[in-house]
Amino acid sequence: MSNLLVINFEIILIILKVIINILGQDTVTSNYEFFNECYGELGCISTDIKWYNETYRPVNLKPLERQKIKTEFLVINRNANNQSELTYSTVTNEPQFLKTVCFGSHKKLLLLIHDFTSNGYTGWIKHIAQKLICDNSYIIISVDWQNGADPPLDQAVANARLVALEINYFLKNVQVYSFV
Ligand SMILES: *[C@@H]1O[C@H](CO)[C@@H](O)[C@H](O)[C@H]1NC(C)=O
Ligand SMILES: *[C@@H]1O[C@H](CO)[C@@H](O)[C@H](O)[C@H]1NC(C)=O
Repeated sequence: MSNLLVINFEIILIILKVIINILGQDTVTSNYEFFNECYGELGCISTDIKWYNETYRPVNLKPLERQKIKTEFLVINRNANNQSELTYSTVTNEPQFLKTVCFGSHKKLLLLIHDFTSNGYTGWIKHIAQKLICDNSYIIISVDWQNGADPPLDQAVANARLVALEINYFLKNVQVYSFV
């Protein structure tokens, strides 16, 4: 008899929990996913109640994997054989490679970053590069994160946070190794 009561009580508890879960899904934080993801040397991305904002950040997804987004830093130069053509060469975000891209010169670094559904070879980046490249006082780098910039927008927005960490890490490396 008392065993039966205990079991009934447990069943009621389970049903209550299910109901609470269902109701919970209708609250404003239903799209809300709490997470804290770390990416080695890049640092961490976390989404907590402070990050959530009903108006500005109602949906917060986890960024895609770093290898999937595959952020690339493309150094833009002029084709040696044809000055009106641009060349794009990937520079690895590691000190020994960065050093070879004429860092240490007194050129200014110009980072160009595309937006949603675009890529590092897009028209406006080309136009800016073509205008400024003659000046010879810039190192022009286009940040390509095409694989992370595809729809849906909410996913691309989340991916952009990881791209921001990549850029931050890149700039840190540049600062440390450009003036040695
Ligand atoms: C959402 O963001 C706006 C703009 O930054 C801010 O004014 C507002 O207080 C935020 N709302 C909450 C609930 O934090
Ligand atoms: C140089 O490149 C431009 C743009 O692609 C092209 O129109 C032009 O014919 C090229 N010139 C030579 C000499 O190959």
